[in-house]
Amino acid sequence: MTAPSLFRRNVEFEIVPMRASDCAEASALHGAGFARAWTDGEIQALLAQEPVFGFMARQSGRRAQPGGFVLARLVEGEAEILTIAVHPRHQRAGIGWRLMGAVLRHLRAEGAASLFLEVDDGNDAALALYRKIGFSKVSERAAYYDNGGGAKTTALVMRLDLG
Ligand SMILES: CC(C)(COP(=O)(O)OP(=O)(O)OC[C@H]1O[C@@H](n2cnc3c(N)ncnc32)[C@H](O)[C@@H]1OP(=O)(O)O)[C@@H](O)C(=O)NCCC(=O)NCCS
Repeated sequence: MTAPSLFRRNVEFEIVPMRASDCAEASALHGAGFARAWTDGEIQALLAQEPVFGFMARQSGRRAQPGGFVLARLVEGEAEILTIAVHPRHQRAGIGWRLMGAVLRHLRAEGAASLFLEVDDGNDAALALYRKIGFSKVSERAAYYDNGGGAKTTALVMRLDLG
């Protein structure tokens, strides 16, 4: 009997805390999701900062392929998502949701009050994910992102109340 797809997709990847040794793979994932990849060194430098933490989605088994990662920072009760990327091959399988869930569990355990993020107002996939989690827009930054395609695009600043 074939397992239901929801069950299969939930066991294929495990969500684990990010370590320094994950940064090269995280850089590759970042490059698959964004016009300018953060380098291995940039991600290592972020993760080395005390308030920064992250999670990887890692395929269980021998190959242990990474499916996505998230980096966040918590300072004095206020947190922000620094970046999140899921490999294009594994998108829309619940990994982004699970990575964000791991961040939220960590922040609630730490007693954080709110979580902020910035997102391009044309990034429909990310906006749908964040709205499903419960984020709402608090402000806009016009002409914020330079995607290399001419006109700069607007950033939405979104917040989730963790109280
Ligand atoms: C945004 C991103 C992280 C989402 O990750 P994902 O693993 O594909 O998302 P999930 O499968 O967990 O989706 C969870 C929910 O988000 C919404 N969603 C995600 N991708 C979507 C899409 N392409 N279109 C519409 N809704 C989408 C849906 O509500 C989805 O729930 P559902 O599948 O039950 O309908 C992924 O698209 C990505 O890495 N994009 C490139 C990098 C990026 O833009 N990062 C965010 C920068 S702010």
